Amino acid sequence: MAKKVMHAVRYEGYCDGATGLRYAEVPVPSPKKDEVLLRMEAASLNPADYKIKKGMARPFLPCKFPFVPATDVAGEVVDVGSGVKDLKAGDKVVAMLGFSVGGGLADFVVAHKTLTAKRAPEVTAAEAAGLPMAALTAHQALTICAGIKLDGNSSGKPANILVTAASGGVGHYAVQLAKLGNAHVTATCGARNIELIKSLGADEVLDYKTADGAALRSPSGRKYEAVIHCATGIPWSTFEPNLSDNGKVIDLTPGPSALLTFVFKRLTFSKKQLIPMFVCAKKENLEFLVGLMKEGKLKTLVDSKYPLSNAEDALAKCIDGHATGKIILEP
Ligand SMILES: NC(=O)c1ccc[n+]([C@@H]2O[C@H](COP(=O)([O-])OP(=O)(O)OC[C@H]3O[C@@H](n4cnc5c(N)ncnc54)[C@H](OP(=O)(O)O)[C@@H]3O)[C@@H](O)[C@H]2O)c1
Repeated sequence: MAKKVMHAVRYEGYCDGATGLRYAEVPVPSPKKDEVLLRMEAASLNPADYKIKKGMARPFLPCKFPFVPATDVAGEVVDVGSGVKDLKAGDKVVAMLGFSVGGGLADFVVAHKTLTAKRAPEVTAAEAAGLPMAALTAHQALTICAGIKLDGNSSGKPANILVTAASGGVGHYAVQLAKLGNAHVTATCGARNIELIKSLGADEVLDYKTADGAALRSPSGRKYEAVIHCATGIPWSTFEPNLSDNGKVIDLTPGPSALLTFVFKRLTFSKKQLIPMFVCAKKENLEFLVGLMKEGKLKTLVDSKYPLSNAEDALAKCIDGHATGKIILEP
């Protein structure tokens, strides 16, 4: 019997920019024992997708070519492996795929059962597809690194949190989650997004192109207990005077100088710390985030939507670095 085919976007080797993507016909994958096969309804892009394509994680990622990029997908289960008991054909789900295997930009996608969460029908595929990498990162940074509790039982003085690049994929979730954790949120973004970020709950918003914004100075004079640092290129010397005595900068894109600062602060027992963070995705956290979305407590800002056949423009938009929220692809 002829194998079923589907469309997938893939590249044959490391290449810079948005070029080198091919919209090809390839066989539909089969789920292994602990995997599910999804009909993709929406996928979202993250900066990691173009960084991997460019070769920034070579020789480890991708693990082989041709490579179908994207880790974040929402869809409907069409088949399950023999070891999958809690998911069945017809379930609406959201999943995060492994960085090394990718596979998101395709009509059909295999996902591991341990990173596939059911979603209620009222959570749209596009909204859910925004969540995996960006919202899990925001969640981990706030709960594990900054110690913010999101269970609605926060007592005591609200923590002062700064979110840089609050209009981006990670930042817009971080603002909403920090507010659910009863924090006082200062955010930075471009002038065009100030009202939007306030509407997500930020208490004060700085235009990053002004002098006060570039200095990260809280308009109300607050010192930050934690910075969820989603922007890039801000030196420690800018953060330092704005931190509380035990303040932490959680750096999501740590470069060599951030790593040096991390080591130096540790070795000198500094109370102010820089913490490099990399997401460690967990199904229970994805389920928690989907639950918040169902309850209307968390939303995805959709910057733009593209058909899978035009993934090149979607990736170019991602590389440009000026998306407001998430870039979504649909079949
Ligand atoms: N460590 C991890 O596990 C992890 C996980 C996810 C993401 N990341 C990293 O985190 C970073 C953010 O990811 P993302 O998906 O949120 O990116 P993104 O969606 O591409 O961010 C774009 C947004 O950032 C804003 N922006 C850019 N520079 C800014 C600045 N200096 N100050 C304030 N706003 C600024 C832009 O606003 P304008 O358009 O107004 O300029 C735009 O709205 C990336 O470097 C990504 O690789 C790391």
